Amino acid sequence: SKEGFEYYMLKEIYETPEVVMDTLYGLKNDTNIDKIIDKINSSKRIIVVAAGTSYHAGLYFSLLLQRNGYTTIPVVASEYYNIKTGPDDSVIAISQSGETMDVIMAIRKFKENNSSIISLTNVIESAISRESDFKIYTRAGPEIGVAATKTFTTQIAALTFIWSKIVDKKINFESIGDVIRSSLDKSGEARRIGEELAQKENAYYLGRGISLPLAMEGSLKIKEIAYLHAEAYPAGESKHGPIALISNGFPVVFVNTGEFTEELQSNVQEMKARGALTYGISINSTLNTHKEILLKVSDENLAVFALSPIIQLIAYYAALARGNNPDRPRNLAKTVTVE
Ligand code: M6R
Repeated sequence: SKEGFEYYMLKEIYETPEVVMDTLYGLKNDTNIDKIIDKINSSKRIIVVAAGTSYHAGLYFSLLLQRNGYTTIPVVASEYYNIKTGPDDSVIAISQSGETMDVIMAIRKFKENNSSIISLTNVIESAISRESDFKIYTRAGPEIGVAATKTFTTQIAALTFIWSKIVDKKINFESIGDVIRSSLDKSGEARRIGEELAQKENAYYLGRGISLPLAMEGSLKIKEIAYLHAEAYPAGESKHGPIALISNGFPVVFVNTGEFTEELQSNVQEMKARGALTYGISINSTLNTHKEILLKVSDENLAVFALSPIIQLIAYYAALARGNNPDRPRNLAKTVTVE
């Protein structure tokens, strides 16, 4: 049941604090984790393979590890044939359903090359977990809305946890529930931005570093349920072409984890100078956009957990403003079991 929420999508976004904590609890008590960490640490390369929203979680994880000097290759599952893996490589396959055919085909091919397969799925003993050498799970519970919401945030929680183990970094996971709740408290602001975007034909979502996968996820979500044409770009790259589209009132949404505030501020100025209507979702410091949701997070490693529900809420309210049912977007299935 929707428990008083108008749609499953909203209910599921509001379940995020709890299911993220369940996921972390599950991983802390998972006796396989140490073996998985050793496996990753002794691999030559880490191939991260997934589709859609799960790919964005995978890209986030890949970027985190690259900063620590690991060689990671994020792969969109349906493009698996471009990658030649070997026995020294580990593959991390991420899939909420655990049944996505593109991911299954990719891991079968990587297995033929004797690479180790580690899966992260939300369904115990799913097809993907059955075909993998090591299995880990998110604990988001069933997700009814076609758009992935709480499952995405549990994926990034699981991947942040694994990253912190791989690189031996202390993160204040105790505060993660509060970080997500204080972000949900800004839903009124997210609603106003969503309703404004719903009036537009196109939008850019820009980010830099870790905020790029969040920008990509924000643009996927608003395309998927609000049917608004949105494109995500690395903010710095936007001046190499995309900026040509900017004219008076063109909306540009900036996503800032706090690590590249100055660079993003100057991208905001470039966009404003050409008439863009700028929005910011920013951690700890202002980007000087026309409209901004400013979120305070004391451990910036947890910034993504404040940003994730906001980009989802913006898409949700944009979908409602356009009269769409966000739980059942047209042309989409919850699980894509065909190639
Ligand atoms: O079950 P999976 O995580 O493997 O699904 C992958 C994509 O099909 C999925 O994330 C899709 O992009 C969602 N509808 C996004 O909201």
